[in-house]
Amino acid sequence: MTEADFVPSRYPNDVDSGKTSWKSPSNIALVKYWGKREHQIPANPSISFTLDVCATTTSVSYTKLGEGASDFSFDFRFGGRPKDEFKPKIRTFFARVEKYLPFLRQYHLLIESSNSFPHSSGIASSASSMSALALCLMDLEKQLDPSIDDGFFIKKASFLARLGSGSACRSVQGPIVEWGDHDEMAHSSNLYGVPFSGEVHSVFKNYQDTVLLVDKGEKQVSSTVGHGLMKDHPFALRRFEQAHHNLGRLKSIFAEGDLDGFMAVVESEALTLHAMMMTSMPYFILMRPNTLEIVNRIWDFRRATGLNVCFTLDAGANVHVLYPEHEKAQIERFIKDELAVFCQNGQYIQDSVGLGAQRL
Ligand code: DP6
Repeated sequence: MTEADFVPSRYPNDVDSGKTSWKSPSNIALVKYWGKREHQIPANPSISFTLDVCATTTSVSYTKLGEGASDFSFDFRFGGRPKDEFKPKIRTFFARVEKYLPFLRQYHLLIESSNSFPHSSGIASSASSMSALALCLMDLEKQLDPSIDDGFFIKKASFLARLGSGSACRSVQGPIVEWGDHDEMAHSSNLYGVPFSGEVHSVFKNYQDTVLLVDKGEKQVSSTVGHGLMKDHPFALRRFEQAHHNLGRLKSIFAEGDLDGFMAVVESEALTLHAMMMTSMPYFILMRPNTLEIVNRIWDFRRATGLNVCFTLDAGANVHVLYPEHEKAQIERFIKDELAVFCQNGQYIQDSVGLGAQRL
């Protein structure tokens, strides 16, 4: 498919008003997207586990305007209250996707959102929120053109979500989603995420992710700025090749149930992501002392017990602790007894791999 396939011609139906709601999860990248080209095209392919508990619920109530407005007409409420500070981001998103959703200026939209995870927990909510919003907009488009089939609906939702926030395109489906052209990945695309279609050993089913909330403050450097710094980064090309290579390795790791291989790729990806940040110009560090303390404790515990626990990091100080379901009891005890103390207010979120967004 090409980008032109997402530009509709004309809508057969007229729709006055309605309401739609979706719940969309967050995701955690195993091979990281870091660096992009114009129009949110990733500099390298990435792959993630879709999460289950960490999610955004969004509803969009739409009412047709008398005549098309000159600007986008919408209100945004978060957790039941108006949140005008989020509106510029949504307006930018609308401007990017208008070409693909030409009805946008013909409606007034009331967008109401809430997150399942604590507000300002430092968890990236752009993936779940942009994917939930994209899915709601696709519901409206399907009202206007009922001939849209499920396959196209999902692809276009992921395509639109990507234009809001790159990683959001991996939140529409589950349990493992790949985004970005890759020679060994069937149906892979730079335009949208696709469910990983290779074989997956049962040990990776229902994989656990405990999200340790190390620092709940605002990030000093946003992901968007970080991506931009990969443009003139001295190690960028080698890094992009490495991501391709790691994705290829994960394919056989998933098939064989190779937990040692999995932990090596995933931890290396996390540290490489942060190494890219530390070697950008300007350089920056998002890890906190407690992030490193947790990493070291995980390594010590793994050495001492032989259990298959590893970590990954997103673009912040929080740590995602990953482990197979059959080791859950011992590892949860370790987290509670030894790692929780390094979290802000002792807070962490018990999550696991999920199946993707749901219409409510
Ligand atoms: C480190 O998707 O948040 O989480 O496209 O600018 O919105 P924008 O960036 P974003 O970047 C995510 C970066 C990451 C790695 C990943 O999720 O692959």
